[in-house]
Amino acid sequence: MKRLPKLPRDPRVLVDQDSLDDAGVYRLDRRTALVQTVDFFTPVVDDPYDYGRVAAANSLSDVYAMGGSPITALALMCFPEALGSEVLGEVLRGGQAMMRSAGVAIIGGHTVKDPELKFGYSVTGVVDPSRMLTNAAARPGDRLILTKPLGSGILATALKHGKLSPAQARRLTRQMTTLNRAASEVAVRAGARAATDVTGFGLLGHAAQMADASGVTIVFAPRPDWFLPGTLELAGEGEIAGGLRKNQEFYGPRVAIEGIPPEMTLGLFDPQTSGGLLIAARERKAATVLAGLRRRRIWAKVLGRVTRRGDRDVRCEAV
Ligand code: CO
Ligand code: CO
Repeated sequence: MKRLPKLPRDPRVLVDQDSLDDAGVYRLDRRTALVQTVDFFTPVVDDPYDYGRVAAANSLSDVYAMGGSPITALALMCFPEALGSEVLGEVLRGGQAMMRSAGVAIIGGHTVKDPELKFGYSVTGVVDPSRMLTNAAARPGDRLILTKPLGSGILATALKHGKLSPAQARRLTRQMTTLNRAASEVAVRAGARAATDVTGFGLLGHAAQMADASGVTIVFAPRPDWFLPGTLELAGEGEIAGGLRKNQEFYGPRVAIEGIPPEMTLGLFDPQTSGGLLIAARERKAATVLAGLRRRRIWAKVLGRVTRRGDRDVRCEAV
């Protein structure tokens, strides 16, 4: 996208790909803007119904990360003919169930034959522009809150290798099918201005994007309880998702890491599927966010703080 020639910006475009934010935002009137995003990927779990649910929750996440409410979705499916209509039906059914639980209407879609199964949605939502959450609004002094534990990429890799217990597999599916809706509502109500969801670029990649877009440096103090049970052990055993090394190569130079064990460092770069929100808010608002998340029984941790811009996007320091 960055290589496309630059056209003069339409003033109704409030957010586009320039800030590497979660979704595009287009103003309709003073109080309403459209939030639009698309995401689809290859299966991350064995069960086709669960795969559909994960794909739906994941594609809704970018709208929640902007503080928006998703309203409609279009399904996108690439499928190998050998797979059979029963499996494809299950995938679609799972997606439908998730969309229904989010109050989103599926109003169309498109399918293409392809050697590899891929599924997801293009989602449209609405947001009040004065309350939208962007990745460019973090300010020095803000606290950072994460709303789902890390490690879904490592656990999904271990699942493919048959190394997860049934309980771990269920925990992974539950995490990836949990909507970021409640977390987003809590953040907007508390008056937070900055958020992004932690997905393919891992915590450090998305934090680096937020720091860059906001002109700040983010400081984390990583702890073992930020991760899904088993993540650090499995990382130590080499259960590394393909995208993890790429994240490390690309974002590594933008991050200073001191005194962090190697398997935890891997976990911080681990690409997440349908990961949680990373919310930045002033100290008092952050306390309100945290209390709201706890009240709604959402997993939440304070990860660190935002500081004035230094020589790196992110610093990780031992506790
Ligand atoms: Co996102
Ligand atoms: Co996105």
